[in-house]
Amino acid sequence: MSHTHHTVKHTHVRAPQPTPAQSGIHVAMIMDGNGRWANARGRPRTAGHIAGARVVRKIVEAAPDCGIGMLTLYAFSADNWARPSREVALLMRLFRRYLVAETDRCITNDVRMRIIGRRDRIPSELLRAIKVAEEATRHCTRLDLRIAVDYSSRDALVRAAERLQGQENLSRDELSRAMCQVDHWDGECRDVDLLIRTGGEQRLSDFLLWECAYAELYFTDRRWPDFTPADLESAVKEFHSRERRFGSVPEAAAG
Ligand code: FPP
Repeated sequence: MSHTHHTVKHTHVRAPQPTPAQSGIHVAMIMDGNGRWANARGRPRTAGHIAGARVVRKIVEAAPDCGIGMLTLYAFSADNWARPSREVALLMRLFRRYLVAETDRCITNDVRMRIIGRRDRIPSELLRAIKVAEEATRHCTRLDLRIAVDYSSRDALVRAAERLQGQENLSRDELSRAMCQVDHWDGECRDVDLLIRTGGEQRLSDFLLWECAYAELYFTDRRWPDFTPADLESAVKEFHSRERRFGSVPEAAAG
C-alpha cells in the first residue's frame, strides 16, 4: 500500500472532532418567578412572561461564552395546562413568536433550536413554527438550545418504557435514547451538568429527572425576569468550583 493510501485511510478512521456544542457543559434551567415578578409591580402575570421571554433571548446569547454547549429551558410543563386558559394561550403565542423572531438570530449565532416534549396537544400554529425553526437551524453547531414545552420527565419515562416493552437486557443508554425519541430530541442524549432554578423554590418539578442524576443544583431567589447574563456566569463559575465525584471518592482520599 502506498504512503498516500495509508494517509487517506488514517484520516478516515480518526474520530470526528467534537462540535463546540458537544464540548460545552449542559445547563438546564427552570425559569420560575414570572408571575410574582409581575404581581410585585401591580401588573398581570402575563406581563411577567413577556418580560421573561426577553430574558430568554439574552441568556441564549450569553450561553456559549459561558462554556455552555447545551441549554435546556423549561418553558411549559405538562402540568401547566391547568393554568387559566388566557395565560396558557398567551404562553403558546409567546413561544411561537419567539421561534419566528429568533430563527435568523440563531442561524447567525450558530444556535440549533429544538423543542422537546409532547407534540400532540400543542396548537397547530405553534407546531408549524417549531418545524420551520428546527429545520432552519438544523445545521448549527455552537449551541444546542432545547426548549421544553408540554414536558414531563415522568411521562417521558413511561412512554419510553412502553416503547421498549419486552426488550431484554436494556441498557441505560438505550433507555436514554428512547426517552429522547419520545420527546423529539434527535441529537446526543446528555446528562445535565448544572441545573439552575430561579424564583426561590428548591425543587425539580418533573424536569429532566433521569438526566439530572448527578447534576449540580443551583437555586437563586432572583426571579426569572431579573435574571441576567452575569447571574448565569456566576452560576457556571460556582459549578466549576464544586467537586464532582459521581459517587466515587476524591483521589487524595482514596489511599
Ligand atoms: C414560571 O413562572 C414560568 C413559566 C411557567 C413560563 C416560562 C416562560 C417564559 C420564561 C417566557 C417565554 C419563554 C420562551 C422560551 C420564549 P411562574 O409563572 O410560575 O411564576 P410564579 O411562580 O411567580 O407564579
